[in-house]
Amino acid sequence: MDHHVKDLSLADEGKRRILWADRDMQVLARIRERFERERPLEGVTMACCLHVTAETANLVRTLKAGGADVCLCASNPLSTQDDVAASLVRDFGIPTFAVRGEDNDTYYAHIEECIARKPRITMDDGADLVSTILKDHPDVLENLYGSTEETTTGVIRLRAMERDGALGVPVIAVNDAQTKYMFDNRYGTGQSTVDGIIRATDILLAGKNVVVAGYGWCGRGFAMRARGMGANVIVTEVNPIRALEAVMDGFRVMPMEEAAPIGDLFCTLTGNIAVIRREHFERMKDGAIVCNSGHFDVEIRVGDLEDLAVKVNRGVRREVDEYVMADGRRIRLLAQGRLINLSAAEGHPASVMDMSFSLQALSSEYVAKNRGALAAGVHPVPEEIDRRVAELKLEAVRVGIDRLTAEQKDYLSRWDMGT
Ligand code: ADE
Repeated sequence: MDHHVKDLSLADEGKRRILWADRDMQVLARIRERFERERPLEGVTMACCLHVTAETANLVRTLKAGGADVCLCASNPLSTQDDVAASLVRDFGIPTFAVRGEDNDTYYAHIEECIARKPRITMDDGADLVSTILKDHPDVLENLYGSTEETTTGVIRLRAMERDGALGVPVIAVNDAQTKYMFDNRYGTGQSTVDGIIRATDILLAGKNVVVAGYGWCGRGFAMRARGMGANVIVTEVNPIRALEAVMDGFRVMPMEEAAPIGDLFCTLTGNIAVIRREHFERMKDGAIVCNSGHFDVEIRVGDLEDLAVKVNRGVRREVDEYVMADGRRIRLLAQGRLINLSAAEGHPASVMDMSFSLQALSSEYVAKNRGALAAGVHPVPEEIDRRVAELKLEAVRVGIDRLTAEQKDYLSRWDMGT
């Protein structure tokens, strides 16, 4: 089988970690059992461009169980778990193209490997795979049934393509399902960002001024968890409604320029470019730590830091580079500005990826079933899939809920009953 992974001898550890994660992915496991029986993806070639983690391994196993001919490449050069990639090849027969630390050319060569298989369904985390097809592979585009997208940044890119009339394929915005963003983006990012920062630096969060750039679902999650660890959290925002929400959630809100000299730790979670840049680095205090938990490594303008530095101490700790300014201040950048939770830690815990990846599996089944019937453009995950994932997750964690009585159903359907 064709593949490019770091070292197949890492596979034993990778397999242990894949099976460990699987214990916490009960919804996906149920879908996998059904897929094995019903084979809804029989004969469908699928290409997945995702973070190559233990959780992703369980997703691609599920797609394969459903009959798909799946291949996998990385959606970020620094997030690949090499042991998992090795096990996917050796133990699960998945052609995998991903090596942690791969350079940009290799990253795109891996995407091209998956495109060369002429997929009918693609699955993205950040839209790199589908946008490469749209740009350079009209022959593949012509035969594509559809695509799915995992993350906020990817959906933003896809909507921009749709607006410009450039999105010639139906794409299911998995990110926008409630069972995705309310849990993965908030609790997943909240926990895994704290995890990545602590693994990279071993800092004590209690008493630190932690500046959270962006108060979307990911920012809310990280702000909440940093506060839980005793940090004094400051939020920066561009959206007045979100800024107001942060104020009423009890956080200090101010422009980045004011936060820059106060912060001990800065984390960007905005999906936007150059959120922390020269004028902010110029005002930061000695020892400030800067990191990003957004999808792309554009949120911190690392080039400005390079320009300002008179010296760079690379690798003062794993995933930490120290930039020394002309006045002697040291600014510490984590994971080269790439997403900290997957670069320095293992990404979101399996239990939350269970929901996101169940949505992915069910959305690809939906695309396969509706091949030819979906218009080009961004589509929501069908409501019944979203609800079903929530129901299955509640079952998995053994939580029961009430059902509407006939009287209550009737009441909700009427407009003529008041006080
Ligand atoms: N995105 C965030 N966490 C992840 C994980 N554990 N696996 C795959 N993608 C992720």
